Amino acid sequence: MNNQNWVDLIRDIPDFPEPGVVFKDITPLIGSPGGFSAVITELVQRTPKDIDVVVGMEARGFIFGAPVALALGTGFVPVRKPGKLPGETITTEYELEYGTNALSVHKDAIGNGARVLIVDDVLATGGTVAATARLIKELGADLVAVAVVMELGFLDGRKNLSEQGIDEVISLTHVDAP
Ligand code: PRP
Ligand code: MG
Repeated sequence: MNNQNWVDLIRDIPDFPEPGVVFKDITPLIGSPGGFSAVITELVQRTPKDIDVVVGMEARGFIFGAPVALALGTGFVPVRKPGKLPGETITTEYELEYGTNALSVHKDAIGNGARVLIVDDVLATGGTVAATARLIKELGADLVAVAVVMELGFLDGRKNLSEQGIDEVISLTHVDAP
């Protein structure tokens, strides 16, 4: 399946989760054997290979991050909503496209100096990636790149991340207007 085909499997759901928001529904994409395989293959092709660990954020970052980690031959570290991880954690709060949230990671999940790739489904405002980057930095690791399936360019995530020194952002497909 080529790029055009798998992009077509991402479905627009108007007015979800609230009026005026067009939700990018990835469930048809990940439900398609050819589509899921094609998007993971492309993520792996586009990302740096000298990675020690892939980090994915609950929940949709798990879906894309774990297979990318397998393909790269690295471990996978889940960044989760607070109260879910059983060990000692660090937590940071962030603003979302709609509302606020917080993310946690196990303190011992990523080694000092580890080279990290963040994988998520969508880059919108960049708040989720920026929060994850703060956690990675606090653990003394090195964020090498961020890879997302879809970038909502009109929400300025790339610019917001660049202002925080995160410039290596790989997105497989762009949406330029709401
Ligand atoms: C969505 C999406 C990204 C994030 C992008 O996650 O999966 O992680 O929003 O938005 P941002 O760039 O403005 O931070 P959400 O928090 O809705 O939860 P989910 O992954 O658990 O569905
Ligand atoms: Mg998410």
